Amino acid sequence: MAKRIIVTGGAGFIGSNIADELIRRGNEVVIIDSLVTGEKKNINPAAKFIKGDVRKPGDIGKCFGKKVDAILHIAGCASTIKSFDDPAADLNTNVLGTINIINAAVKHKVGRILYASSMTAYGVPEKIPVKEDFPTRPIAYYGITKYAGERYIMATGLREDLGFKMNTTAFRMFNVYGRRQSLTNPYQGVVSIFIGNAARGEGIKIFGDGEQSRDYVHISDVADAWAGAIDNPGSFGEVFNLGSGIRVSVNGLVAITLRSFGKDIKKYDVKYFPARPGDQRHMQADISKAKKMLKWAPKMKFEKGLQDVIDWAKELYKGE
Ligand code: UD1
Repeated sequence: MAKRIIVTGGAGFIGSNIADELIRRGNEVVIIDSLVTGEKKNINPAAKFIKGDVRKPGDIGKCFGKKVDAILHIAGCASTIKSFDDPAADLNTNVLGTINIINAAVKHKVGRILYASSMTAYGVPEKIPVKEDFPTRPIAYYGITKYAGERYIMATGLREDLGFKMNTTAFRMFNVYGRRQSLTNPYQGVVSIFIGNAARGEGIKIFGDGEQSRDYVHISDVADAWAGAIDNPGSFGEVFNLGSGIRVSVNGLVAITLRSFGKDIKKYDVKYFPARPGDQRHMQADISKAKKMLKWAPKMKFEKGLQDVIDWAKELYKGE
């Protein structure tokens, strides 16, 4: 049944793609986004848009009016590096922003919240692939605030004093990539950073030895998981890894990216720099819980997903 859904961060890379999927499935969507990193052009014209900041309860209040069925809380500071540069800003947006969303949900009796958590919550896992019940010991300040937000959301789902049941779900997203991920913002995912570098003919910087690895999951699979979970009681009160289950090293990513651009890696300007603080070594999701309980499985093959982003980047830079 069509629902009225608030998507925070709905002008950003992940939020806008999820908003599109919800609208495609016939829902009414209200987007709140500060447009700090989100972009107006990403906003689905069928959505109601409120320019606002989750740090400000007054802005969040503007999203309500008609009854809201669910809130998808995706807005946040999504940068490990920035979290070290300005920990208070990261804390305010990711934790206080989440508390403000919870307060609004309680006030307006919204019975469903889904939260964008992060694989950074795991820190340095003892083994990979990681399962949802592995210890959470974030090593980046960003991971601490995303995990704190996750716990606030999940703990709210256990509250019996609210007078109504709030069903909560959190997704620990691994390295999401796809169209609309910034090709120019050095703080957004490495896939789009490298594609942007190659499309503009710039040098590629590898932090560390490049043998660190990540689990890259395509945005279409992520949007599918979120949209499908809203009405699925199997997801209530649960935390899920959203990854592809496959890991690729940063060196491997550079090689595939340059090959896809038809460039010779031996002649390309690829330089190594010291590893960044809070950088995890290897990450890989165990996605068996999401497969079983959400009846979800990633469909996009990495090479194909990467090629799609490359086609999009080439289109954007055509004629420049
Ligand atoms: C990323 C996101 C984080 C998200 C998490 C899970 C960023 C900055 N971080 O963390 O918000 O919660 O995934 O989805 O988007 N690297 C290079 N050269 C570059 C850029 C990156 O070598 O130019 C390396 C990094 O040091 C790291 C790896 O590539 O080892 C991945 O980096 P990145 O895409 O920034 O993401 P994570 O730090 O894994």
